[in-house]
Amino acid sequence: MQEITTASTKTQRAMAMEDRYGAHNYHPLPVVLERGEGVFVWDVEGKRFYDFLSAYSAVNQGHCHPRLVKVMQDQATTLTLTSRAFYSSLLGNYEKEVCTTFGYDKMLPMNTGAEAVETALKMARKWAYEKKGIPADQAKIVVCDGNFHGRTITVVSMSSDPESRDGFGPYTPGFEIIAFDDLGALEKALADKNVCAFLVEPIQGERGVYVPADDYIPKAIALCKAKNVLFMADEIQTGIARTGRLLCSVPDGETDKARRPDVVLLAKALSGGMYPVSAVLANDEVMDVFTPGTHGSTYGGNPMGARVAIEALSIVKDEKLVENAERLGHIFREEIAKLVDQYDWVRGVRGRGLLNALLIEPREASDGSPKTAWELCLLLRDNGLLAKPTHGDIIRFAPPLVITEEQLRECLRIIAVSVEQFA
Ligand SMILES: Cc1ncc(COP(=O)(O)O)c(C=O)c1O
Repeated sequence: MQEITTASTKTQRAMAMEDRYGAHNYHPLPVVLERGEGVFVWDVEGKRFYDFLSAYSAVNQGHCHPRLVKVMQDQATTLTLTSRAFYSSLLGNYEKEVCTTFGYDKMLPMNTGAEAVETALKMARKWAYEKKGIPADQAKIVVCDGNFHGRTITVVSMSSDPESRDGFGPYTPGFEIIAFDDLGALEKALADKNVCAFLVEPIQGERGVYVPADDYIPKAIALCKAKNVLFMADEIQTGIARTGRLLCSVPDGETDKARRPDVVLLAKALSGGMYPVSAVLANDEVMDVFTPGTHGSTYGGNPMGARVAIEALSIVKDEKLVENAERLGHIFREEIAKLVDQYDWVRGVRGRGLLNALLIEPREASDGSPKTAWELCLLLRDNGLLAKPTHGDIIRFAPPLVITEEQLRECLRIIAVSVEQFA
């Protein structure tokens, strides 16, 4: 490793510091960011990039949105944390905003995505025993192969990814993993009377933007309802306008409870990248399993998070981010499809709204060096666009939803040029 004191550029110094003092639990693309505004980020050398990761879809409203900056500054000098030992003047307003926006009776505020997942798992188990009548400690939760729901011990216990899971046992029992996008597998799993919930991402983001068949989610909801099993949609990455809908798992405006998830998990863009804010949404008959003392978090629902999240949701509506994601998503996929036709190693494009992925065939250069999604991301970086591979052959493209058509078309040119250089 390069000595920190002798590293010559700001970039090298920052990377050497992280390498020396930080745990090596990430493999970042070599670029050191220090500023962001809207769809752009700048590195420590002053170079500007389009951000096509958006912090894994947390920055849907764009970096440092001026309205979010303003409420955050204001709230920072007013009141930041009360804990839930007392009522706060903002929490009820925030809860009402979330419930009316997404169409649920109640919400439970937490901080990170993984905490929202843990909350939903606890809720499902308690509902199993108190409402469904499953014998004590027998409740089972069905999840999907290739899922990503976070990093806690319980959450990795239901992962099928060896990198996420191996070495962290003993694992939490009570999960069954079935194939994603397979209604037959779900039907079979639901035959077990001890199943209380099905937890699923409407599109598997971390797996590489794996989009199921159009009828998979609606039919899975119907199968769960028929068996009195909670359908729990992890919309932490797909929710809040990202896929051209407010929620990916249900068309906007659908009010029929029979066609809606029983439980929805939100995080990331709920605070527009300002602050960790997450939430679990459900109707009263499910949410009322929580009583005082059964669940909580010191920071969950704090005034700062509540204020930022109210504003973040308001921006989504005012700036019509659902419509923008839907419209620009079509343009993006249409243009990338031309590259798929042109180069045989560009295998495909898939996605919904502005959550998309480019699939490539990993190859070797004439000198034997690898040409995988990682090397293509390095080239995209050099050309002014930041994206991250998932696996060796998939690149996710998820810009902030405030991107304009003109900006998107410029990005499509950057991608086309990079693909040409990579050929
Ligand atoms: C679908 C999904 N669920 C849960 C999580 C975990 O969220 P967090 O990293 O905030 O714990 C993520 C994070 O990428 C996610 O994509």
